Amino acid sequence: MNSNMANTILVGAQWGDEGKGKIIDVLTEEADVVVRTQGGNNAGHTVYDGPKKYVLHLIPSGILRKGRKNVIANGVVVDPIGLVNEIKGLQKLGVNPKGRLFVSETAHVVLPYHRELDAQREVLKGQNKIGTTKRGIGPCYGDKAARVGIRMVDLINLKRFQEKLELRLKENNEVLRALGAKPLSFKRVHADYAKAARFLKPYVTNTVVLLHECMRRGESMLFEGAQGTFLDIDHGTYPFVTSSNTSAGGACTGSGVPPHRMDRVIGVMKAYTTRVGEGPMPTENDEISDLLHGMGREFGATTGRARRCGWFDAVATRHAAMVNGIDDLAITNADGLDTVENIKVCIGYRDGKKRYDHMPSDHEVLNRVKPIYAEFEGWRKPLDNVRRWKDLPAKTRQYLRAISDLTGARLAIASVGPARCQTIFV
Ligand code: IMP
Repeated sequence: MNSNMANTILVGAQWGDEGKGKIIDVLTEEADVVVRTQGGNNAGHTVYDGPKKYVLHLIPSGILRKGRKNVIANGVVVDPIGLVNEIKGLQKLGVNPKGRLFVSETAHVVLPYHRELDAQREVLKGQNKIGTTKRGIGPCYGDKAARVGIRMVDLINLKRFQEKLELRLKENNEVLRALGAKPLSFKRVHADYAKAARFLKPYVTNTVVLLHECMRRGESMLFEGAQGTFLDIDHGTYPFVTSSNTSAGGACTGSGVPPHRMDRVIGVMKAYTTRVGEGPMPTENDEISDLLHGMGREFGATTGRARRCGWFDAVATRHAAMVNGIDDLAITNADGLDTVENIKVCIGYRDGKKRYDHMPSDHEVLNRVKPIYAEFEGWRKPLDNVRRWKDLPAKTRQYLRAISDLTGARLAIASVGPARCQTIFV
């Protein structure tokens, strides 16, 4: 892998939870600026610094490295109370974000009515629910598209915030009442959010200008994607998706850094597949779910929900490589397969007589396709202590190479555990 970071976009090549937090943390060693460009505190990036465990939801993982600038850019939706708690939590652990964390003035604000509506709409959907994180992400992006959102620049202007909140609460309380939910108290919401606004004001700035100044100084940037390609509002398994562009293009619109300034895209994928929430997942499999859950793995960092697990799906990752323009791959959680005798990899889908080598757009078709599997002999040795590519078992190397080739991108990193040192550069 090229040691010069240049400007790198890092994306999840599956359904989120690919282990991006750890890879980002490793790569931040070479980056000057780390940028979040989409999503909100529905994300959960777990990073280990020695024995210390950090779970970050909104703040970029670069905050854990001294001297790195961290930007929450315009494409992110910010829950101010969540952000205040995250900053205070880091301060308690001895990490001070002051002067190193910058929040976009134009990022939209998640408010309690977004969370309430998120929950109520899920109830209304019944069996067709999306399985959202109930963090208000969809309704907040909905307000942004409907041009009725409140942005950080409005929040920190307390007079303007009061006026906008009054208007928005009036409408949203009508909707909540109609859905049979309790309306929200203006006084309470205003008091809590005005307090958060005062705390956050020093962090809020024009991040587009800041990022372009960094570029002029020749600083390198890492754009950390949240969620994964198949949760992308345009390219994912709609409607079972999140409400932002989780694929590489979102890094440009979500930050104001133009496409021709991006040098490389890294895709992160697990050596198998997981998904949280509802929606199609062709390779879902009880055997591997039981195995991974039995090892205490695959429980969500944000909601604690048990993730759905399945075999590696090369049809999906090939699609992700295409949509994102993935140059290099980081494969994580290879050690989760240490005890498996025969490892399956999905190389195509079958729907009756029809074979698919790409992901069908119709989620009903994707729901009923049957995977076509290739089989690989497992290595049946623990990988967690391996530090060099050549010391991995031959069968592991063969498997990792095969899933990279099937995906159609270069293998650059293999991760064999959560710690920084458990990272193998290929
Ligand atoms: P929302 O983003 O909370 O609206 O949830 C929409 C879908 O995206 C649900 O299936 C969630 O489980 C999924 N999702 C959202 N954020 C993450 C994440 O960080 N990892 C994995 N799945 C996520």
